[in-house]
Amino acid sequence: MRLQDKVCIITGAGSGIGRGTAFLFAEHGAKLVLVDRDLDGLTATQAQLPAGVSALAVRADVSKAADIERVVENALREHGRIDVVFNNAGIMPHGDLLDFAEQTWDEVMAVNVKGMFLMCKAVIPAMLVQGGGSIINTSSVMATLTEPGYEAYTASKAAVIGLTKAIAVSYAEKNIRCNAICPGWVDTPMNLHLLEEMGEEQLKALIKRQQPTGRMATTREVAYCVLFLASDESSGVTGSALYVDGAASAAI
Ligand SMILES: NC(=O)c1ccc[n+]([C@@H]2O[C@H](COP(=O)([O-])OP(=O)(O)OC[C@H]3O[C@@H](n4cnc5c(N)ncnc54)[C@H](O)[C@@H]3O)[C@@H](O)[C@H]2O)c1
Repeated sequence: MRLQDKVCIITGAGSGIGRGTAFLFAEHGAKLVLVDRDLDGLTATQAQLPAGVSALAVRADVSKAADIERVVENALREHGRIDVVFNNAGIMPHGDLLDFAEQTWDEVMAVNVKGMFLMCKAVIPAMLVQGGGSIINTSSVMATLTEPGYEAYTASKAAVIGLTKAIAVSYAEKNIRCNAICPGWVDTPMNLHLLEEMGEEQLKALIKRQQPTGRMATTREVAYCVLFLASDESSGVTGSALYVDGAASAAI
């Protein structure tokens, strides 16, 4: 019970890493505030949690300030405090720079980066009053290693690391910690389109080439890293980026 009674906001909780983290946090006694713009996904996550788990679901678009303020208001009304925020919602459009729409670029930055800024701006006042908190932001191994056609995504995930470090430095004395996780290949719906585009054999070969473990990480493996950063066990850790990438970033 490493998060006993801690109030934890998780964005992107309607799928993949966010959902897997919600399940693990629930096992560790957290009170969950689940956020996603996809109501069906959100409802499915809530429905799969064991009976008795405290889980408030709030449909919200993280790129909209009014939505984020509503999430934080709901969480504070229900629980009176916010101990942990897992800023995890993200999108990964792919395409040649020359054909990449300006609007798509703006959307990637708004969801992947501005959403985190808005959430931090909304929760930090409560964390200051409480005397601390832990913020975890989902970056990616693609913040520094990339492939053609991922300019927007790579730029956004690099910005997440910068934002994380800046917040960590600004609020370290106030006991508000801010860390990033950098996943490599993770088995979530985000990669499903690649399965359709490349076929199973080719996708498996690509993963084997890029991630020395030769397989995608599970959402639970990623969630354990988030659990560590959320819990008091990581009280000395802030401003760091934890790689959960099966050695992808270590390989030539
Ligand atoms: N899957 C991977 O291999 C991988 C690797 C590195 C980093 N990541 C990052 O992990 C995070 C989670 O991705 P995932 O793999 O679980 O993908 P996913 O597509 O399964 O889940 C992402 C969730 O975010 C939600 N979302 C998207 N935009 C939103 C918005 N504006 N407001 C609210 N919710 C929104 C989606 O509805 C979805 O439920 C993302 O930030 C992604 O970039 C994933």
